[in-house]
Order: sequence, then C-alpha cells, then structure tokens
Amino acid sequence: GVSFTGAQLRRNESSSFSSFLSCCVFYSPSSSGVWSAQALEMSVGKIPFLQAVNGSTVMLPCTYSSCIGIKNLYFNWQFNDNGTMQKVCESTIASEEVEPNVNVLRERVEFVGKNHHNNISILLWNITFEDGGQYTCFGRNPKEKDKNHSAIFTLIVVDELRVVDNTLTIMIASAVGGAIALLMGFMLLKNFTLFVISKLEEKNKECLVTSSGIDNTENGLSGSKADSKPTPKKK
Ligand SMILES: *[C@@H]1O[C@H](CO)[C@@H](O)[C@H](O)[C@H]1NC(C)=O
Ligand SMILES: *[C@@H]1O[C@H](CO)[C@@H](O)[C@H](O)[C@H]1NC(C)=O
Ligand SMILES: *[C@@H]1O[C@H](CO)[C@@H](O)[C@H](O)[C@H]1NC(C)=O
Ligand SMILES: *[C@@H]1O[C@H](CO)[C@@H](O)[C@H](O)[C@H]1NC(C)=O
Ligand SMILES: *[C@@H]1O[C@H](CO)[C@@H](O)[C@H](O)[C@H]1NC(C)=O
Repeated sequence: GVSFTGAQLRRNESSSFSSFLSCCVFYSPSSSGVWSAQALEMSVGKIPFLQAVNGSTVMLPCTYSSCIGIKNLYFNWQFNDNGTMQKVCESTIASEEVEPNVNVLRERVEFVGKNHHNNISILLWNITFEDGGQYTCFGRNPKEKDKNHSAIFTLIVVDELRVVDNTLTIMIASAVGGAIALLMGFMLLKNFTLFVISKLEEKNKECLVTSSGIDNTENGLSGSKADSKPTPKKK
C-alpha cells in the first residue's frame, strides 16, 4: 500500500506559510548590492525524511513557491547514489497549474504532483533497499536569472518498522526499569546499612556500658562466647 504519515500531510501547510515569510518579508542582499527577493523556494516539508519498509510505495514530497511567479520553471529530482547525482525525473513547467510532461529516468517512479497547487511530488513504487538515500528536489526559475534552488528529502528503507520500534521501547523500558530498580536497591541498601550501623552502635553502647560487668562473668561461664564479643578499650 501507499504510506503517508500524518505529519507529512500536515507539514506542507505550515511550510508554505514559512516559505511565504522567507520569500516575501525577509529580503537578502544580492551580490550586486541590490536588495532582491528570494523568489523561488523548494520545500520537502517540515520533516525531510521518511522511514519505510522495503516493498512499500512511498511519496517523496516537494512543492515550490514563488512570489514573483514562475515562467518555464525547470525542475528535477535527483538521487544521490553514493556521491554521484542521478536524475530521477525532469521537466519544465510553463506556468502554474499547467500539468507538465515529465521525463522519468528511473524505474518505478511516477510523477503524482501534477503541478497541482505547485505540487511536484513523486511516487516511488515497490521500494528496495537500493532506493534508500538522499533525494534532491531541484528548481530553477528563468525569471530570477537562473538561480538554483533545492531541498533534500531522505528516504530510509528498513526491513520491518515495528520490530525497530519495539526494540527501542523495550530498551527504554528496561533502561528506566533498571534505573528504578537500581535506585530502589541503593535506597534499600542505604537504609539497611544505616539500620545495621545504628544497631551496631546500639550494641557497642550496650557493650561499652555492660562490658566491665559482664565480661568477667561471661568469661567465667562460657569461654567460647567470649572470643567473638568485641572487647573495646582492653589495650
Ligand atoms: C524485505 O527484505 C527482506 C530481506 O531482504 C525480504 O526477506 C523481504 O521479503 C522483503 N520484503 C518485501 C515486502 O519485499
Ligand atoms: C559506494 O562507495 C564506496 C566507496 O567508494 C564503495 O566501496 C561502494 O562499493 C559503493 N557502493 C555502491 C553501491 O556503489
Ligand atoms: C509493484 O509490485 C506489485 C506487486 O508485486 C506489482 O503488481 C506492480 O506492478 C509493481 N509496480 C511497479 C510500478 O513496479
Ligand atoms: C501532492 O500530491 C500528492 C498526490 O496527489 C498528494 O498526496 C500530496 O498530498 C500533495 N501535496 C501537497 C502539499 O498538496
Ligand atoms: C545551477 O545548477 C546547474 C546544474 O543543474 C549548474 O550547471 C549551475 O552552475 C548552477 N548555477 C549556480 C549559480 O549554482
């Protein structure tokens, strides 16, 4: 099945708002010293990664936004295959809301964004472990002197999602449990030690008080018991 996360769907709304801010409110000085707007912005959302099980079908999200508008916007998706960038697909968007003809260069890839609300997301069918890695969503708007813009989305392919989560939960639970057990053990030991010490002190006091009187009588009654008894202040 197709796996989308709730966060994936939600984050696009807030990110388009933040890109609106960065593009239309904050201006950055260009190299010529003239203040110019950041016209184009590529966005893969607030959470730029996805963990998915091998064999599943995932969406790599990307949207663009521009306050000055686009004309013949060139875009592509690239996959970072061990350092070399491989083009996944590419196209030129004539204008907003016009569905482009996308040239797909990688197997199991489908262009699902359709430029609907600036959506240039792609779908990756039946992912394998080789599909894991970094995907760059790249855009260039001729309206702004062919400046490059891009955003990176990371796909993590795992064997089984739940096993990973469970081990982590168990690890955390056992770690917390262990810490509590250790703390309780420590407190018990401390109390026990204090108890023993207080008892010993009591005994010592008793011994000190009674030693002068009892020592001699006990010595006389039973020789074996006298050896184990503490005999302070004898030397
Ligand atoms: C995922 O990979 C594992 C190990 O290579 C394999 O046994 C399993 O069948 C794969 N799952 C799917 C859905 O392709
Ligand atoms: C990736 O690069 C490393 C080091 O250059 C190499 O050992 C490895 O075989 C490469 N992997 C693939 C899938 O090309
Ligand atoms: C994905 O896998 C299913 C089942 O194995 C197959 O029917 C389908 O054609 C595959 N899709 C693509 C795009 O490879
Ligand atoms: C982009 O299009 C895909 C496929 O129709 C959809 O699932 C996704 O929610 C869209 N993203 C946005 C930000 O509209
Ligand atoms: C923009 O990207 C292209 C490759 O797509 C590259 O040839 C060009 O030098 C880049 N331009 C800038 C200003 O980085």
